[in-house]
Amino acid sequence: MTRPEIRRFPDAEALSAGAAHEIARQIERAVAERGQCRLALAGGSTPQPVYERMAERDLARRIDWNRSIVFWTDERCVPPDDERSNYRMAMDALLRHVPVLTGNVHRIEGELDPEAAAGRYAKALGDEPLDLVLLGMGGDGHIASLFPETPDLRPADARVIATRSPLPPVRRVSLSLRTLNEARSVLFLVAGASKADRLAEAIRQSCSAAPSLPAAMVRPQALSWFVDADAAGRL
Ligand code: 6PG
Repeated sequence: MTRPEIRRFPDAEALSAGAAHEIARQIERAVAERGQCRLALAGGSTPQPVYERMAERDLARRIDWNRSIVFWTDERCVPPDDERSNYRMAMDALLRHVPVLTGNVHRIEGELDPEAAAGRYAKALGDEPLDLVLLGMGGDGHIASLFPETPDLRPADARVIATRSPLPPVRRVSLSLRTLNEARSVLFLVAGASKADRLAEAIRQSCSAAPSLPAAMVRPQALSWFVDADAAGRL
């Protein structure tokens, strides 16, 4: 694994703008090369301003929303209108404001039993690789809903798994490490000084044969880290 590309930005606002432009560029490229872009959106707080920037007219017009197929990397097992829902966050910040086709938006049904939701989502996801996956990184190095030192990190065939989080909401549904690593491109979004030590550790482990951090286990065809100066403080 070559050392991943790291793009540093002076602050969170510049990071959001830079990431939004890069995401638009990668969606354009996927549509040009393959006629569509299968995109998985991250949850949490860091992506929200990125999605809001993507919804602004200049970028929203660049993206071919008719050919964008939208998924999520993971979901908390809560109803879709719950304020903790990753689906609700992305709908409010981006998807309600752009002409994405309803049939191309595949939410994880957090209101269902996690195993049932995982099975239904795996069917919607299918076997094709994702073109672009957006990920955040938790302070413990978790990604999506894949947490350190859990069996969910073991190599497995499943593309979607029901998991448990040490942080509430405990019950989750997540793309598996297999699905993340089959992606054509993964773009990490990491901001804030609280992530600096863990980010440095994840980058150090990214070339290791036996990484311990989930964030260091993500080894897709193309990988880039979009970080602000605070998060990059230990690099
Ligand atoms: C979630 C996310 C989770 C998130 C990280 C970072 O459901 O919360 O999938 O993996 O990306 O916890 O979250 P922040 O961006 O809020 O720091």
